[in-house]
Amino acid sequence: MVEISTSILSMKEGEEAQTILGLEAAKTDYFHIDVMDGKFVEKDTYNKMLEYSSYIRRISNLPMDVHLMVENVEKAISDFSTIEPNIITFHYEACKDKNEVMEFINLIKDNNCKVGISIKPTTKIEEIYDVLPYVHTCLIMTVEPGKGGQTLITDMIDKIETLKKYITEKDLEIDIEVDGGINLVTAPKVKEAGANILVAGTAILKATDYKVIIDELRK
Ligand code: DX5
Ligand code: ZN
Repeated sequence: MVEISTSILSMKEGEEAQTILGLEAAKTDYFHIDVMDGKFVEKDTYNKMLEYSSYIRRISNLPMDVHLMVENVEKAISDFSTIEPNIITFHYEACKDKNEVMEFINLIKDNNCKVGISIKPTTKIEEIYDVLPYVHTCLIMTVEPGKGGQTLITDMIDKIETLKKYITEKDLEIDIEVDGGINLVTAPKVKEAGANILVAGTAILKATDYKVIIDELRK
């Protein structure tokens, strides 16, 4: 089953309530919360996302999918656990070594959350094979993290295929999530390669009818 996680990164200010309620009515499976610290990536959305996610917690029952693009993963886990997300994903590149990767995985689990690990386009998938048995989701960045509205890097399709083959061989039950440049043209390709959670921001928020685009991306 394919699920859609709508990134609210590019949500228009002043239209928060109607956007969130509209997305819920259109049956997005998750709200994708892009947390940026101005260090791991240039942009800083940290406080805005804390504000948005606690607002979503108040007005909606839908699960939140928190994507941490930050250097201080430990602090972000503690700050964003308070909004009781369904899943917290952090970047492999933000960790100093594999021990730290395992520490963050355990810390997220201690907060009763599912765990995701994410890699940037230039990081090889093989580098994280040994931690996959401990996570629920692997988030493959299909653009360089940092901003919405970019074009999917087509080489990432091979990466998704490699991961799908590996988890099938090893009989691992993990979700393959993809993030960046997902639209009606790229969605069929990433799904065919093995992705089962699709993050989309621009494609959904710019559409005239959220339900039509979400259904189309999912099918
Ligand atoms: C990029 C973010 C994404 C992105 C998705 O750093 O992680 O979630 O904004 O937006 P679109 O769908 O516009 O590429
Ligand atoms: Zn994201």
